[in-house]
Amino acid sequence: MSLQVFPDAQALAQGAALALAGLIETAQNARGMCRIALSGGSTPRRLHHALATAPLAGRIDWTRCAFYFGDERVVPLSDERSNARMAQETLFQPLGIPTAQIFPMVLDPKQPEAEAQRYEALLQRFDGVFDIVLLGMGSDGHCASLFPDTPALLETHRRVVANLAPQLDPPRLTLTYPALEAAREVAVLVSGPDKAATLAQVMTGDSRLPLGRLAARRPLHWWLDAEAGHLIATPTTET
Ligand code: 6PG
Repeated sequence: MSLQVFPDAQALAQGAALALAGLIETAQNARGMCRIALSGGSTPRRLHHALATAPLAGRIDWTRCAFYFGDERVVPLSDERSNARMAQETLFQPLGIPTAQIFPMVLDPKQPEAEAQRYEALLQRFDGVFDIVLLGMGSDGHCASLFPDTPALLETHRRVVANLAPQLDPPRLTLTYPALEAAREVAVLVSGPDKAATLAQVMTGDSRLPLGRLAARRPLHWWLDAEAGHLIATPTTET
């Protein structure tokens, strides 16, 4: 477990990118490749920008990275809500990552269950063990697309499921707790004042919240800005 609280969102992006670069290089040194599952949402945009610009853009050996996703909206890749589209625009395109190194979660939004099975098979090529999973957190304590009171929370075997709960519009595909618990490293990126109270509750391991349940079960790297983490620690705190 590690906790880093940065003064603001920009410092968080830079600090998290540096920490992530270290995790990537550790995986590459150990196994040659780094298999990373990216997070969706808006917070990763700044992180991606920091990774795709100097000095990190030139420091990391991107040819030895394979990019997966922690969750995805069931929409076409061209849809502005697509996490894969966001990553393409903010990370893959700026770095010139070849499509052969990118594994979108949803290729055919008309068949979410089949897509979950396709992705499950893809993960089996490496026993479903990611080197790194990046997560965000919603103000309801969700991570990936493990939302409160949705069926995906109950999955105990499959690594990827379609989460078609009626309250999810659009529906989602998501990594499950088995996948998140099996990962070698999991890092949580949280920014903004609207998440501070939930984050404090999650970090106690409150299993009523999806991310709290994960925090109770495995070590996590917490990368926070002061607005999100002010109830937990002061900025530039590292443990
Ligand atoms: C998604 C994400 C989701 C996200 C949180 C935080 O597909 O939206 O995977 O879990 O990480 O909702 O989103 P923000 O970064 O936009 O606050």
